[in-house]
Amino acid sequence: MVKGPRTVICVVGARPNYMKAAPIVAALRRSARLAPLLVHTGQHYDPDMNERFFAELGMPAPDSNLEVGSASHAVQTAQVMMRFEPVLDSAPDPIVLVVGDVNSTIACALVAAKKGIPVVHVEAGLRSGDRAMPEEINRVLTDQISDLLFTTEKSAAANLAAEGIAAQRVHFVGNVMIDTLVANLPRAIPPAETLATAGQIPAGRFALSTLHRPANVDDPVVLGRLLDCLAEIGAGLPVVLPLHPRTRARIDAAGLTGRLDGTRILALGPQGYLAMLGLMKAATLVLTDSGGIQEETTALGIPCLTLRDNTERPSTVEFGTNTLVGRDPARILAAARTALATGGKAGRIPEFWDGHAADRIVAVLEDSF
Ligand code: UD1
Repeated sequence: MVKGPRTVICVVGARPNYMKAAPIVAALRRSARLAPLLVHTGQHYDPDMNERFFAELGMPAPDSNLEVGSASHAVQTAQVMMRFEPVLDSAPDPIVLVVGDVNSTIACALVAAKKGIPVVHVEAGLRSGDRAMPEEINRVLTDQISDLLFTTEKSAAANLAAEGIAAQRVHFVGNVMIDTLVANLPRAIPPAETLATAGQIPAGRFALSTLHRPANVDDPVVLGRLLDCLAEIGAGLPVVLPLHPRTRARIDAAGLTGRLDGTRILALGPQGYLAMLGLMKAATLVLTDSGGIQEETTALGIPCLTLRDNTERPSTVEFGTNTLVGRDPARILAAARTALATGGKAGRIPEFWDGHAADRIVAVLEDSF
């Protein structure tokens, strides 16, 4: 009997997962030995956080959508687990591939591991050392139960070794998110178009900011201070601020909407991938708390100030254009002024952030399974 290709169930759940999964799904479709089955957990569901990315990235529609939606961490994780189990039961001899560090990542990895199904983690070994971040818990646990671990940067190997994970399970392949960036850069949407569509006057030079980490947006005092800080930077250089739905909801709930009035903060809705790429590429400076944007600005050579005390992506600081500035307004303002006066930190691109990480991953998968 001729055996067909073995199924690799690729899980996505939240916005940052799509850019990571897209090149892997494409590479698996080119494989004679393996075939992708795309499962969306529905953790993110707004079209702006979801369908738009699938269309832009040329990803096939998910083979199934578990439609879990938003809830507390426990409920969301549990719902993903309950709804993912039957998907595994209906696939013969699958492999489960998870990316990143969102709740859907640990939920699906855990269901598969308990059923004796091989688990593959892409973007393994990143550690902020900060267990107050829900993502850090998701990273540590997913890595512990993964059979194959693919890393994006060299720091990850030492983190995994320190947690007792055997080196032969770990493969340094580079960064799949940069595969997507390299492939889509020519299609990036010019910022003037994005701003005009959002009803904003196109800026000349501008800074770009994103905020969505619970530590930055859940406390109204911290959030208010950060918005004031962006307003002050805006006095010199307009600040384009695409708002994550979570951040928009927190601003509204805390009665902070008025803080944006009369400032040169250009608040937009959530942007698609190609619009964000265009904004990042053209920005004079980026201020963010996003993990992905730290990496993308390093790949693009754009100076980035990260509004956190730590990063799980140290190569962006060691080699790239990233500087950690925390969330103290005085420190952020001083760093922004310095970056604007000097042109900001120069950097180089970390090893294997070259557009070919997904091919390396599929080559290892073909060898291993
Ligand atoms: C999740 C990830 C985070 C990632 C981020 C990117 C976890 C623990 N966190 O955080 O690592 O950086 O995605 O966006 O998995 N909401 C909508 N529409 C949506 C999705 C969310 O309005 O399509 C709102 C809801 O109010 C929801 C809130 O955003 O309660 C938070 O969504 P959730 O998926 O719980 O976490 P994120 O903050 O998006």
